Amino acid sequence: MDSFSTVIRTASHEQHTEAETSTFMSDLLGGRLGVAAYARYTEQLWFVYEALETGTERLAADPVAGPFIRPELFRLAALERDLAHLRGADWRAGLRALPETEEYAARVKECADGWPAGYIAHHYTRYLGDLSGGQIIRGRAEKTWGFARKGDGVRFYVFEEIANPAAFKRGYRELLDALPADELEKQRVVTECKRAFALNTAVFRALGAEFPLSA
Ligand code: HEM
Repeated sequence: MDSFSTVIRTASHEQHTEAETSTFMSDLLGGRLGVAAYARYTEQLWFVYEALETGTERLAADPVAGPFIRPELFRLAALERDLAHLRGADWRAGLRALPETEEYAARVKECADGWPAGYIAHHYTRYLGDLSGGQIIRGRAEKTWGFARKGDGVRFYVFEEIANPAAFKRGYRELLDALPADELEKQRVVTECKRAFALNTAVFRALGAEFPLSA
């Protein structure tokens, strides 16, 4: 039987491709969008990570979610530095979540508050992605908009305290494989992971509508 880390990866593979090849992501990675679109995307991420990283002290004590709560993953402080760079010192006053982002963040909060295993589905979808494809996005952003390498503007993608992302991901998969949950609960987590991907895709769709190419 496949390990849980393999099951969740395989189950979300199709949606991963969908997210990766969404119009907004393709345009962003293709260098076809202005920095305003990148800033708007970064702003949406702030709401998602605010939901993921609020209440982590409580989740750290939870037997299911606890092992996943690793401060070296936390992204909110990095996002805030990026936003200050992108939007200026008063970035907070202008923060606006898209309706799709609100829905995404609300679901993360709901899981964080009442379903630790569901929270892991969201944790996995974001942080493992940031450690993987995030590195590709960082490189493109630096090149397209001239941010300093691993500097302000792209700090979200830089995990200063994770020296070896490949090793970290291996350890993370071991945590997934050791998840103390029965098969039914694991199936629910997989379903929640698919939902997490769908929530991301919905945000991309909304961003794509806000930043169409004037081709
Ligand atoms: C253009 C955008 C993206 C690119 C280029 C990209 C690329 C990649 C690559 C190359 C990997 C493989 C890492 C490995 O084998 O260790 C990966 C893994 C992953 N990505 Fe993405 N990705 C993108 C967008 C996304 C998005 C939007 C999400 C979800 C929000 C996501 C979530 C994940 C997850 C959860 C994994 C880990 C899979 C696993 O090993 O279990 N990615 N990505």
